[in-house]
Amino acid sequence: MTEIPGSRPWCIPVANQKGGVGKTTVALSLAAAIEDSSGSVIVFDADPQQSAMEIAAAGSLPFQVRPALSAAELTSIRQVRGVDTVLIDLPGNLDDTPVLGEVLAASDFAIIAAQHLPFRLLCNLVDPLRGPVPVQQLRELLDGHGLPYFRSFVRRYVAHPQCGRR
Ligand SMILES: Nc1ncnc2c1ncn2[C@@H]1O[C@H](COP(=O)(O)OP(=O)(O)OP(=O)(O)O)[C@@H](O)[C@H]1O
Ligand SMILES: [Mg+2]
Repeated sequence: MTEIPGSRPWCIPVANQKGGVGKTTVALSLAAAIEDSSGSVIVFDADPQQSAMEIAAAGSLPFQVRPALSAAELTSIRQVRGVDTVLIDLPGNLDDTPVLGEVLAASDFAIIAAQHLPFRLLCNLVDPLRGPVPVQQLRELLDGHGLPYFRSFVRRYVAHPQCGRR
């Protein structure tokens, strides 16, 4: 990835509500791979366990790892300039924390670290009233990425509170 001076870096959190599935390992390994291929990266550690910060303190990583626990630190994620990628190591438990909302608002896409399990995507909130094209586009997108999915989908339901009243 090439950085355009002053431009906003790619912002990519590594997430999974499950613990111990490799979020920190993926975030740090990906950061090392980006540096290795002449990219520049900063890793933010948003996990109160601060494992990425600990690993960074123990060795000499070729990139910065910064804490992202306080509101000010979380806000600083979207202010980063001068690198082409920002990776964020998220905690396993995001319940009752503002972290997920803050981070996703600043993110381009997320990586879900998971152990290899058989899976199939079920598409939810599909709006067939918009015609067959969005559904077809969705299928082509998933086919293009080789992702397994159910042909059936869950449509977007809309409640009409006045419906049925006289
Ligand atoms: N590909 C792998 N091969 C072998 N061990 C791995 C691999 N990926 C992760 N691990 C090991 O699995 C353990 C959990 O990984 P890691 O700490 O990255 O998970 P995590 O999702 O960040 O955990 P937490 O939810 O506690 O933050 C660590 O001991 C790590 O070294
Ligand atoms: Mg971790």
